[in-house]
Amino acid sequence: MTLNVTSFFCGCGGMDLGIQGNFNYLKNFYKKHPTKIVYAADFDSYATTIYNNNFSHKCETKDVRKVSDKDIPAHDILLGGFPCQSFSIVAQNPPRLGIKDEKGQLFFEMCRILQTKKPRFFIAENVKGLLSANKKKAFPLIIKHFEESGYFVKWKLLNSADFGVPQKRERVFILGFKNEKDYQKFSFPEAITKENHVPLKTVLQDNIIEKYYFSDRAVEGMKRVQHKMNKGRSQNIELPCNTISAHLSKVSLNSTDPVLLEDGKYRRFTPREAANIQSFPDDFHLESVSENRQYRAIGNAVPPVLMWHVSNSLMDIITT
Ligand SMILES: C[S@@+](CC[C@H](N)C(=O)[O-])C[C@H]1O[C@@H](n2cnc3c(N)ncnc32)[C@H](O)[C@@H]1O
Repeated sequence: MTLNVTSFFCGCGGMDLGIQGNFNYLKNFYKKHPTKIVYAADFDSYATTIYNNNFSHKCETKDVRKVSDKDIPAHDILLGGFPCQSFSIVAQNPPRLGIKDEKGQLFFEMCRILQTKKPRFFIAENVKGLLSANKKKAFPLIIKHFEESGYFVKWKLLNSADFGVPQKRERVFILGFKNEKDYQKFSFPEAITKENHVPLKTVLQDNIIEKYYFSDRAVEGMKRVQHKMNKGRSQNIELPCNTISAHLSKVSLNSTDPVLLEDGKYRRFTPREAANIQSFPDDFHLESVSENRQYRAIGNAVPPVLMWHVSNSLMDIITT
């Protein structure tokens, strides 16, 4: 059996690679899943250029609000790492999400497809902050909207560092099941590297060229204010890295983004190191777009290895 997959907000393809499987990362092989991506879209043409250089199928560069359900083939799983916009819950009784501008709330685009295409499963992903957004009111409403779209819903906060990834990245995964039996059978994956996290040093490169180092001036400036602020976030390479973000393209010593301190010199990560930290395989091609765009797409991605584990647990309920 093959499960057809539609991917909204596919970015450069972290979720898509994870659900597809068949890749190597840090000497482990992540086996192929019985899945086929039949439709993928994102409106960031730089991210989709990277995507299309790495998958045999192609994604569309398109605003998902303009994707009609008629454009999408029948599918079994809908994916969506929906953008983490702030949700507006104005004083309402009962409270509702985004009542003023439902179109602006991209999470509703997933509900629209769930209601019309009725796939057997969906997997949504978002930042930890979603749980506390709008004084903790937004998250239950999102779950309610998914349920009202016809799904039984389970969710869990997972940390990629617990799954063999050298990065502490906490993300909420929300899974939806059309059938109650599937819902009852599913369990989220158990942590596999809780006690033995993979250290950042495992994925760092050697012989880093000068342009990745901060100038003496930037370092002096940072040192002058460091006693006052939490700046110069140099990482302990014996531990997993702090969360990397799309800001990596603009990382400065005066921001809170992770940097490295090596032999007394501060530097930023290379795009390849950022991809390594996010658990993309070595043969994942980045070079088709500028380095700024690479950092952005990689920083936005769902770690493929974490997504593989979530998908693998989903595959378990189909094969048992
Ligand atoms: C968190 S990232 C998704 C990461 C991706 N799922 C991955 O694993 O690599 C959110 C993505 O939503 C895309 N996006 C935001 N608004 C969009 C829209 N209206 N239509 C299509 N894509 C959109 C952004 O370009 C970004 O790539």
